[in-house]
Amino acid sequence: MRDLIVAGNWKMNGSQQFVDDMLFGLNKVDFSESVEVIVFPPSVYLHAASRQAKTVKVGAQNIFYENSGAYTGEISPSMLSDIGCRYVILGHSERRAIFSEDDALIAKKVVASIENDLIPILCVGETLEDRESGDFFEVIARQIKAGLGLLEADQVEGVIIAYEPVWAIGTGKTASPMQAQEVHGLIRRLIAELAGKKISEHISILYGGSVNAASAKELFSQPDIDGGLVGGASLKVDEFLAICSAAAEAV
Ligand code: PGA
Repeated sequence: MRDLIVAGNWKMNGSQQFVDDMLFGLNKVDFSESVEVIVFPPSVYLHAASRQAKTVKVGAQNIFYENSGAYTGEISPSMLSDIGCRYVILGHSERRAIFSEDDALIAKKVVASIENDLIPILCVGETLEDRESGDFFEVIARQIKAGLGLLEADQVEGVIIAYEPVWAIGTGKTASPMQAQEVHGLIRRLIAELAGKKISEHISILYGGSVNAASAKELFSQPDIDGGLVGGASLKVDEFLAICSAAAEAV
């Protein structure tokens, strides 16, 4: 069976008080029997959040690919491991679009994560233009092949993929369960070609893009959707817990 995961990407939101309140609320419920719940605070709050988290895991929204050196402003994979974080989001569309991260850079970060015992969540997804052109799966396939390109086939098993159509992120327009399942199925087939069928069957593929408590259950019930990467709805503890419940029910 594949791990079912609900990941909350807080992006550049919150405060120390917000982190305290969120962790207090999340710690009251334990989904760990059925769902792996992970929250991704801004890096300045990672240490405090990982100390407070009892029932959920904590991860980072980004890292650099070197472990130390003259890279002002960056945090490294080994630093993340050092404070007990095991997860990192890589290649998010906001990093690609706003911070000009390309596939080659993302591939270096993916391999650096694996080499430091971190589990990367590699984000891929097409823009509205790509979708309307009909060639969207070529874009996604390019992002996946490049993002995993520096890994040995057996290392691919250590990666989580998040399919996040750019047109669905923060827009309130969720992909329909059918649209999402179609892409997830294609991604799983592509992973089978790259790393073998066994690994493709083990790897978790999350859906992201305006997931909320109302849409989560049907999305997570699709055969190739193994949970979600949630942005806006992860900032409200009740809504986020409702999404985690929907995941537990979708098992
Ligand atoms: P959203 O963000 O749920 O607010 O659309 C998802 C993401 O960017 O990971």
